[in-house]
Amino acid sequence: MDTNETTIEPLEGADAPRFDNAPIGVFDSGFGGLTVAREIAKELPRESIVYLGDSARCPYGPRSLDEVDGFVQQIGAWLVERGVKLVVIACNTATAAGLSHAQRTFPVPVIGVVEPGARAAAHATKNRRVGVIATKATVESDAYTKAIRHLDAGITVFSTATPRFVEIAEQGLRMAEGPIEDFTSLVSTVYIRPAFQEIAREYLEPLRRCDIDTLVLGCTHFPLLKALIGGVVGRDVTLISSAQEAAHDVAHILSRRGALASEDHEPSYDFYTTGEDVEEFRSFGARVFRTDIDRVGRVAFPS
Ligand code: DGL
Repeated sequence: MDTNETTIEPLEGADAPRFDNAPIGVFDSGFGGLTVAREIAKELPRESIVYLGDSARCPYGPRSLDEVDGFVQQIGAWLVERGVKLVVIACNTATAAGLSHAQRTFPVPVIGVVEPGARAAAHATKNRRVGVIATKATVESDAYTKAIRHLDAGITVFSTATPRFVEIAEQGLRMAEGPIEDFTSLVSTVYIRPAFQEIAREYLEPLRRCDIDTLVLGCTHFPLLKALIGGVVGRDVTLISSAQEAAHDVAHILSRRGALASEDHEPSYDFYTTGEDVEEFRSFGARVFRTDIDRVGRVAFPS
């Protein structure tokens, strides 16, 4: 027997490759999903991210679920072509409209933001009375009520569509410089104007009267308005954003699959917008992502 002979076997089990430096794909109708992308970057600082903001077709909220499902298919296919190892639908409306279809279509794992938010709410509530604020499409889909009650059928869910919050968050981005939360915090006289507080009270007072102790911010734009919303519902109501919970899910899935980026991987962040104004995306996006955005490209999808 030739003792120098070596047999190369495919690696399996403990010896299998334990990292994957391909990027994570994240998308939303615009800037809101950057609240999710920044949590992923915080929790998984070695991961590269490809982010797409579909600003040209924002808002998704007033559209039909069928139409938004079509957008999810289009954007998911585009991200898969870019070699992503996992897709995060960082938009509640798009999750409600297209998550299960996307999971059946794409060759990589796809996660949404409704289930993580529902789970966090079900864990947080003590009196089992949970409020949900979201876009019209998300509320009409009933996705949160189903997801929360799937975890605990004894929880009563009260949902309200708050479409003007998307508008207010977008307006906040157009004002001044610096992280957007500085302009939406209670200490800022610049941004929380009486008119916005009036809108917030109109939306949220009925929920407060339902004696909720937990409120799901069921739209990825809404964490940007935490201070405004929290100021109206009061300290006794726990605000739930799915961003952090979704980032934990990403970490979990990648680690289970041995697909986290390697320790020495230098992450890259690539941003794309379908909007006309790439410079606007760069400057507003940086205020949500809280890091300078260098690489921004424009993508056009056939209508
Ligand atoms: N960010 C989207 C969501 O989470 C809402 C914004 C829109 O209406 O496009 O539902």
